[in-house]
Amino acid sequence: MDISQIFKNNQDWVQKKLSVEPNYFSDLSKGQTPDILYIGCSDSRVTAEELMGIAPGQAFVHRNIANMVPNTDLSAMSVINYAVQHLKVNHIVVCGHYYCGGVQAAMKSQDLGILNPWLRNIRDVYRTHQAELDAIKDEELRYKRLVELNVEEQCINVIKTAEVQKARRERDLTVHGWVFDVHTGKLIDLNIDFIKLLENIMQIYHLDPNEPEKPADKNV
Ligand code: CO
Repeated sequence: MDISQIFKNNQDWVQKKLSVEPNYFSDLSKGQTPDILYIGCSDSRVTAEELMGIAPGQAFVHRNIANMVPNTDLSAMSVINYAVQHLKVNHIVVCGHYYCGGVQAAMKSQDLGILNPWLRNIRDVYRTHQAELDAIKDEELRYKRLVELNVEEQCINVIKTAEVQKARRERDLTVHGWVFDVHTGKLIDLNIDFIKLLENIMQIYHLDPNEPEKPADKNV
């Protein structure tokens, strides 16, 4: 890739934006009020704003290998904290994607060095759902199902955080699990039944002893 082309592209983009809206960048510089926190994969094919058709300023974005939310990862935890407590987003999206190299790597026996502890989080998702996954004989379908189950588990990791639990009591904060299908370009809502999921786990993960556990009366 010719890196200098990127600066030419940038100049063209600035001109295009200003020709439509002369105050575009001065308005952007006033601050951000995104309503969505998007947590996705670093995969170059899976963009955030472009696949959602949204503009700069509309989504706070965190991307890493295989859209993970490990509870000891300072980066992911800081992003969630800032988005929920300060930006006060009302939607948190975990978006996985089919054909995810990170998920595929976690299905193989191989030593990938520094990636081992990261990918072990996905192996743990496999272990948690081993009976369901092992019953899927078609390898591609099993791989796709692990992508979906990984999204579900990362949504649960989002809900495990204290700031999300607190925000859920104070406002309508919704967690969404999505998958992007690279093969078709389509965004798929997994329609995860969070009420059912939370009924089973909040007894364990509920963090604030002074607040009663919120009744499972709505989607999170
Ligand atoms: Co990926």
